[in-house]
This record gives sequence, C-alpha cells and structure tokens, in this order.
Amino acid sequence: MTQSNPQKLIVGNWKMNGSLAGNGALIQDLLKGWPTHQVSRRVQAAVCVPSVYLAPCAGLLHHSCLDLGAQDVSAHDAGAYTGEVSAAMLRDVGARYVIVGHSERRQYHAETDQLVAQKAQKALAAGITPIVCVGESWSERQAGQTAEVVKRQLAAVIQLNGHCVCEIVVAYEPVWAIGTGQTASAEQAQEVHALLRAQLKAAVAMHERIFILYGGSMNAANAKLLLSTPGIDGGLIGGASLKAADFLSILADADAVSRV
Ligand code: PGA
Repeated sequence: MTQSNPQKLIVGNWKMNGSLAGNGALIQDLLKGWPTHQVSRRVQAAVCVPSVYLAPCAGLLHHSCLDLGAQDVSAHDAGAYTGEVSAAMLRDVGARYVIVGHSERRQYHAETDQLVAQKAQKALAAGITPIVCVGESWSERQAGQTAEVVKRQLAAVIQLNGHCVCEIVVAYEPVWAIGTGQTASAEQAQEVHALLRAQLKAAVAMHERIFILYGGSMNAANAKLLLSTPGIDGGLIGGASLKAADFLSILADADAVSRV
C-alpha cells in the first residue's frame, strides 16, 4: 500500500508571517529560482499566504509556476460572520488551494473534525483544492492512538464529501513535529501515509491520484529522504518556506525524486 502520485506537490505554509514588502522580495527570489516549465511538470508548487496578502501575491504569481493558497476558509457561504473569508472570496482573488484543519486551528480555534469537513466541502464547491491536515499529538502517539486519530480526522472529511474526496490533498502533520525541529522518521511517516491511502482507497476509486503530503519540520536537510520515501507525495512546509533558498532547495529535491 505504498503507491504514490508520480508527481510531487510542495506547499509552503507561511502562517502569520510576512509583510507587503517582504512577501514581494520572497516571491521574486522564488520565481528567479523556480522559473522553468519543464520542472513544473514533475513538481507542483504553491505558497499559502495570510489572507490579507492573497490579492497582492496573486498579482506577483500571475502566469508563474507557483500557485497561490490560503490558510483557512469559512464554513459559511456569506453573511454575518465577522472576520471570516468565504471560499468564493478566495477563488475570486486567485487561490487554488486552501489549508483546512491545520493543527494550530484545531488547537487554538477549537476546530472540530466536523467543521474541518465543512470547510473542505465549501472549498471543493468553489473549485479550490482543500489541503486537509491530519495528525496526532505526542501523547496520542505515546498512547498508541496515532492510527485511530488520523483515521477519525480523515473519515469526517470523506463522510461529508463522498466521491468529491478524490479532489482533496491530504497532509499528514504529526503535531509534535510541527515547528519543533523534530521530524517524523521516513518510516513513521510512511506507515501513516499507507493507512491514509488505504482509507482513501476504500472510499474512492481514484485514490492513487490524491496527494498525501508530509508536514512537520521538513527542511532543506531532510526533504530529500522524506520525499524519496514511497507513499510521500510532497511536503507542507512551514518555517523552511519563509527562506527562498531553503524552499528552492526542497523544490529541487522534489524535482530530483519525482517519477514523472
Ligand atoms: P513546520 O510547519 O515546517 O514549521 O514544522 C509545518 C506546518 O505547520 O504546516
């Protein structure tokens, strides 16, 4: 159960970092290092930026090999939801992806599996690819609950979205590996990816097309090993996506190990 997508998908999650001027400089450096059409056949790449910077970044990324993504989306369509941003709005400003269910949102904003599934549904309905994050905490891993937790998180999304699930991206992000410098081993990640792919296989025929990314302290030093591991189709990268040289190095590694 280790089949994987022959292409790689590398997504930067800028989180709440950056500035108008800083983003411009970062994107310019990324586009200088990632310009070729040939490379983009093997690797798809995107950056998920803070919502206020979506529109200016869309302008900078227009006609480039880098796609634009958001970091969250409302579970509602429109109306009296102060502070929320709808999927249609994200689409309107050019977002192709949106991260849903990141552990920081589950933890700090009490997002439930059900809410995450609804957000994925709204994204899909607007033609945006949701990057659905799942992952266990350290205590859950210690208690042997990893499989149960990630399967429960993904099951909610599958249940609500039915066969549309073949349009999602899944990101396995062990909570204990995020921003800690302590990455999961390739074996640990592979084991969970295989579980998730089996779950997708049971739900949708086109499971092999679905990207399952690894996220959690992926960086320029460890990306090649992780990305060359069967079943790992790409990365969701936080800290290392804020430095052009590091993100470009990860893109080059993805290109080198892609099977396209
Ligand atoms: P990190 O973050 O690469 O800084 O660990 C990954 C993420 O939270 O998506």
